[in-house]
Amino acid sequence: MDRLMSSPRLMIVSDLDHTMVDHHDPENLSILRFNALWEAKYRHDSLLVFSTGRSPVLYKQLRKEKPMLTPDVTIMSVGTEITYGNEMVPDEGWVEFLNQKWDKNVVTEETSKFSELTLQSETEQRQHKASFYVEKEKAQEVMKTLCEHLTKRGLDMKIIYSGGMDLDVLPQGAGKGQALAYLHKKLKDAGKLPKNTLACGDSGNDAELFTIPDVHGVMVQNAQEELLQWHAENAKNNPKIIHATERCAAGIIEAIGHFNLGPNISSRDVTDLSDAKLDHFDPAYEVVKFYLFFERWRRAEVENAEVYLSNLKSVCSPSGVFVHPSGVEQSLYDCINKLKAYEQYRVWVDQVFPSHIDSDTWIVKFKKWEQTGEEQQGCLTTVVVSSKGLKPTEGLTWLHVHQTWIAGTTQNTRNDWFL
Ligand code: GLC
Ligand code: MG
Repeated sequence: MDRLMSSPRLMIVSDLDHTMVDHHDPENLSILRFNALWEAKYRHDSLLVFSTGRSPVLYKQLRKEKPMLTPDVTIMSVGTEITYGNEMVPDEGWVEFLNQKWDKNVVTEETSKFSELTLQSETEQRQHKASFYVEKEKAQEVMKTLCEHLTKRGLDMKIIYSGGMDLDVLPQGAGKGQALAYLHKKLKDAGKLPKNTLACGDSGNDAELFTIPDVHGVMVQNAQEELLQWHAENAKNNPKIIHATERCAAGIIEAIGHFNLGPNISSRDVTDLSDAKLDHFDPAYEVVKFYLFFERWRRAEVENAEVYLSNLKSVCSPSGVFVHPSGVEQSLYDCINKLKAYEQYRVWVDQVFPSHIDSDTWIVKFKKWEQTGEEQQGCLTTVVVSSKGLKPTEGLTWLHVHQTWIAGTTQNTRNDWFL
């Protein structure tokens, strides 16, 4: 959060499963569209917040499976754990706040008396969250009785039902909505309240997000019955909340457009990327576009492959150099000449941060992720680009590309591997 010097232009607070991540889209197309839009147009001055019901263990697992960007803030375990940055530094103040009027032992004792409740896996039981499965038909009755029992024991808690099967017991002050309100207050105190906030969700535990003042909300097209019902009963006439016509991340893009929150065209939706005209140099956009170009060529999705390849070359300096993570150095031209097609190839960039180092030169740092079939691998990439002698419409010239492996990812040593 500290990287922004002033108020974020937009803060997106999004649920993950069935909102940012579409588990019914094996090609991951909608999240890849969102990623390209976010990195090209928002990353530099906006905040990305993920708010999930998952514990840190299951959150990290999802990150390995799906092409997810790195958020600025990660809120996990249904708003009971807030962490910041790449290192995921926990917010200790939030933990202390939630400790008030909370006794997990009482929850364990009382819930064990309900035969309708089945305990979820050990990873999902957290300091401020007890989670169970319960059949849809029994949910309302169980929630009511359990609430009475816990209140009698002096506990100030809330019970949330999601996805037609999950029941979470949390401290009253917790939940995705309260965690967002807390984040807003923190940002406000630092003089950095976002100009706009967009909350995105699909299920019961997301409802609270839509109750926070000054927040725009999108229930994605595939929203669960319990969320739609909550909306019908509580927020039907609120113009700041929409039910998107598109699924998952595509619904988020739709909401950005609907509420006029900023650019809403992902480079992935632009067929002729060489035709994309700009009125100023935009290194983040150039990086996103370059890799999309690259992906389309490798997937053999382009009609005139030769012209395409020469377009790719035309943005590289003839003396440009590429340093492979293994240490091998080649000219950028050589790399392009050796390119091979790969049908299942996907590439996306994460945390694209350009910095101006000279009047016409930028260093752009980012993580480049690639998927070939099931495998994902990542490289920390540093690129030097120049605008010398060019007009913005011509894009930037790539002078130097340097990559190092991201620790913990598979290291591909195939020599057809490039950029
Ligand atoms: C996630 C969590 C689970 C929780 C559910 C609903 O699936 O893993 O523990 O019950 O979200 O909040
Ligand atoms: Mg969800």
